[in-house]
Amino acid sequence: MIEKYLNKIIQGDCLELLKTVPDGSIDVVFADPPFNLKKKYKSYQDSLEFKEYLDWCKSWIIETVRVTKPTGSIFLHNIPKWLTYYSAMLNEMANFKHWISWEAPSSPMGKSLQPGHYGILFYTKSKKGNKFYEIRHPHKRDRKTGYLVKDYGGKKDGLHPFGPLVSDVWTDIHRIKHNKFRDKHPCQLPVHLLERIILMSTDKDDIVLDPFSGTGTTAIAAKRLNRNYIGFELDKNYVAISTKKLDTTSPISKLGNSWVSFYLNNVITIRDTDWEQLKSHYVIPKVARDIESKRIILKDDDVRIGYSMKQMLTLSRLEKSLFD
Ligand SMILES: C[S@@+](CC[C@H](N)C(=O)[O-])C[C@H]1O[C@@H](n2cnc3c(N)ncnc32)[C@H](O)[C@@H]1O
Repeated sequence: MIEKYLNKIIQGDCLELLKTVPDGSIDVVFADPPFNLKKKYKSYQDSLEFKEYLDWCKSWIIETVRVTKPTGSIFLHNIPKWLTYYSAMLNEMANFKHWISWEAPSSPMGKSLQPGHYGILFYTKSKKGNKFYEIRHPHKRDRKTGYLVKDYGGKKDGLHPFGPLVSDVWTDIHRIKHNKFRDKHPCQLPVHLLERIILMSTDKDDIVLDPFSGTGTTAIAAKRLNRNYIGFELDKNYVAISTKKLDTTSPISKLGNSWVSFYLNNVITIRDTDWEQLKSHYVIPKVARDIESKRIILKDDDVRIGYSMKQMLTLSRLEKSLFD
């Protein structure tokens, strides 16, 4: 029954479509609904009355929980204002895991603090037995020297060579700024945001459903990671854009035998369990430079994991010229 929807973006109203999805058939639902902020969508008026918007949200939230497997998870992305209501609804029907704060500037809303994050509510269908993988992101390093930006209070020796476990505050994934990377859509999300969510909550061949698919970000992330996807989207132009992009997307987000997330050739999310297999793919140079004092310092423990091959080549050329 669910097979007819697999790996398709279907045009239509998500509430109607969700009602046709069998109970407990989906591994992860990610929903990024309109925020009711009068955004200029092609087929949708983003300005409902307060109660009307929340009643509508409740009706599709109930469906997202119903269709999720007992081992599965539900992720809801929105501005904090609406997430406080979503959370109250979800606390009645699912299990709270996290409020993920995704740092990203948004528009000021009158006389208020400058909004600096979007929230991603992370609920599991059941209290026990849900699928979850710890994930890591690379240490922040100085671009030129490769030094760790953070001091870590003199405890660098014990650090994981790749980087720390990802917390519930995400500051390293940025909104798409350049128009050349954007589709004609007012609020397209970055693919690697979805890749991080999919890596931590699913396995290869699992099913990821996005009821507000937009221009297909969730589907693209799922396909790159060899998961199945289902997208629902009201607007036929957005469906056409997604389908075109999906035709040229393949399951390539892999290093060795591990599925990982890349951004501009850098690996930016890995699963903790994959590190043993992944570490052979990284070059670990034993040399570091102290650029500021123009002295060259040899440091055995300096690792530059997380750099792309191109950056590594530039760095080794630079090092060679310093030593020659
Ligand atoms: C915030 S955007 C999602 C953007 C998406 N995450 C992306 O990265 O492209 C919300 C989307 O929901 C769609 N939409 C609004 N009402 C809908 C409905 N009832 N059923 C399905 N899609 C709907 C809008 O057309 C819009 O593309």
